Amino acid sequence: MQQRTIGDRTVSAIGLGGMPMSIEGRPDAERSIATIHAALDAGVTLIDTADAYHRDANEVGHNEELIARALREYGAGAADVLVATKGGHLRPGDGTWTRDGDPAYLKRAAKESARRLGVDTIGLYQFHRPDPAVPYADSVGAIRELLDEGVILMAGISNADVAQIGEAREVLGGRLVSVQNQFSPAFRSSQGELEHCAKLGIAFLPWSPLGGIANAKELAMRHGAFQQVADEIGTSVHRVTLAWELALAPVVIPIPGASRPASIRDSAAAADLELTPDQIALLSV
Ligand SMILES: NC(=O)c1ccc[n+]([C@@H]2O[C@H](COP(=O)([O-])OP(=O)(O)OC[C@H]3O[C@@H](n4cnc5c(N)ncnc54)[C@H](OP(=O)(O)O)[C@@H]3O)[C@@H](O)[C@H]2O)c1
Repeated sequence: MQQRTIGDRTVSAIGLGGMPMSIEGRPDAERSIATIHAALDAGVTLIDTADAYHRDANEVGHNEELIARALREYGAGAADVLVATKGGHLRPGDGTWTRDGDPAYLKRAAKESARRLGVDTIGLYQFHRPDPAVPYADSVGAIRELLDEGVILMAGISNADVAQIGEAREVLGGRLVSVQNQFSPAFRSSQGELEHCAKLGIAFLPWSPLGGIANAKELAMRHGAFQQVADEIGTSVHRVTLAWELALAPVVIPIPGASRPASIRDSAAAADLELTPDQIALLSV
């Protein structure tokens, strides 16, 4: 599988997003474990998660624990996997998302994530979403302290605009290795951040790269050009979508979510699907 880099780590060009395995509508644990194992079998070495991927407030870290279990059960073959988790977003349990960017909270949350993942040091820790109640530099300052204390090995941010990327770089310097923002055929408004990351050489992880859990099934219907290219090649519209995102810049690493082995198998193959310049131009308008 084509490889890309996050900081000094080499990872598969397609990652696995863990959210569909832990929020409302999730499958049973056995199917989730089979999905994660299918990703590993396909050569995926990046898994994205967050402490907030759970249903009820009494099961914070559900997805982190699931991933830790799947990696343990897979054995030695999982040693190279980079697990990227996040903190700063919370789900009280009523379906809403809240934020907490308080530095002391973030530091506690990261340590809890490390415990659930069963590691001394988290491979990549991302500040999930800016909290308007806390100066951004203060929240990112907590991430710097986590780096300095060895709780996390690499630092990323999520849901950040160009100005916030600049602010995070002032705090973290070259230690900011990734930005994770929403980006898909339906949601292109973070194209500016994608291009900014490409200039800086920072990994850009599109979240909901297929349009999100609820919309991924309707890609073909809503985005005719993607289906047209898929038909031309004889492959799935999902694979074409991910291949298009990969073609936008060498720093792009999509993290499609999955709750079925077949989904991630199909998505992982996008890493080796090369679109022609004409196809890329058609999809990029
Ligand atoms: N940073 C943030 O604020 C943030 C926000 C949202 C998400 N995320 C991260 O980004 C990841 C991806 O986003 P997402 O899960 O919301 O949406 P998504 O990746 O756009 O769509 C996920 C859905 O697409 C389906 N799918 C995936 N590959 C497929 C394929 N090849 N063929 C057919 N269907 C396919 C899956 O179906 P099945 O379930 O049936 O397999 C899954 O439910 C999340 O899992 C999470 O890790 C981050």
